[in-house]
Amino acid sequence: MATTNIAPAVNGAGTPQRLAGKVAIITGAAQGIGECTARLFINHGAKVVIVDIQDDLGQSVCENIGVEKASYIHCDVTKEDEVEKAVNFTITKYGKLDIMINNAAVLGEAKLSILENTKSDFDHVISVNLAGVFLGIKHAARAMIPLRNGSIISIGSVSSSVGGVSPHAYTSSKHAIIGLTKNVAAELGRHGIRVNCVSPYLIPPSVPADVTDLYPDLFARVYSNLQGVHLKGEDVAQAALYLASDESKYISGHNLAVDGGFTTINPGFGLYAPQKSS
Ligand SMILES: NC(=O)c1ccc[n+]([C@@H]2O[C@H](COP(=O)([O-])OP(=O)(O)OC[C@H]3O[C@@H](n4cnc5c(N)ncnc54)[C@H](O)[C@@H]3O)[C@@H](O)[C@H]2O)c1
Repeated sequence: MATTNIAPAVNGAGTPQRLAGKVAIITGAAQGIGECTARLFINHGAKVVIVDIQDDLGQSVCENIGVEKASYIHCDVTKEDEVEKAVNFTITKYGKLDIMINNAAVLGEAKLSILENTKSDFDHVISVNLAGVFLGIKHAARAMIPLRNGSIISIGSVSSSVGGVSPHAYTSSKHAIIGLTKNVAAELGRHGIRVNCVSPYLIPPSVPADVTDLYPDLFARVYSNLQGVHLKGEDVAQAALYLASDESKYISGHNLAVDGGFTTINPGFGLYAPQKSS
């Protein structure tokens, strides 16, 4: 049987270049997980287009990375003409699009009670976190279908598969992108395009202070299943790197949890549940 060599190229320093020659768009990459992912992808030989609404920050990240490897374009992911423009800019500048990372998202109002939740905030969260992902997938597919190749990755959350961890609108949007991912994977497989999600656990320092300050007792005892290790943006970026690279060439329609097992167990009951102190 014929085998495919997927061993990555190496750079001058002998570092593996798992994305050598690839071009990626990362939305919401002016800071946080998106920025970590941009830096990791560039270390692995990709060219990256950073998309965000924080223009000064996005531009300075590009300049810090090196403008020959990273470009910035203003794009509000809720606006179709701006998403279309970002994809067109990428094709004009780099000739193609191999990887689309739909990372931009907002948490929305930090109000626990549905009685206090406003329709306008619900609409805004759905618009960024779900419609924004839909637009990113749609315009990435437009660029990828003619090439019969591509990897589309959307950033979910533990709130993509369990309830009770974040506000209602956010949980709704993060569940919905898993369904969207599965449906689009079903369609785009015939074009050689893979569609997946990466779903992280909380990275405590990046949970906004207005949320942690409002519920200090909740965040003081935030439950983590995996002891002795703390999730960082780089860990999420590594999962995205795997799904973006050819090493994952047969993986599509998948939700890769980066949560130390949090969403697969019930921490409150069972053989390993915390013991009551007597
Ligand atoms: N940090 C965490 O603890 C955590 C946990 C689980 C999932 N996630 C998910 O990871 C992703 C990144 O999270 P983060 O913590 O790095 O977020 P962040 O708030 O640090 O960064 C989000 C970026 O998205 C940009 N953005 C917001 N609205 C936008 C819009 N309409 N158009 C374009 N850009 C927009 C922001 O300007 C910002 O740069 C999100 O999808 C988030 O839901 C984060």
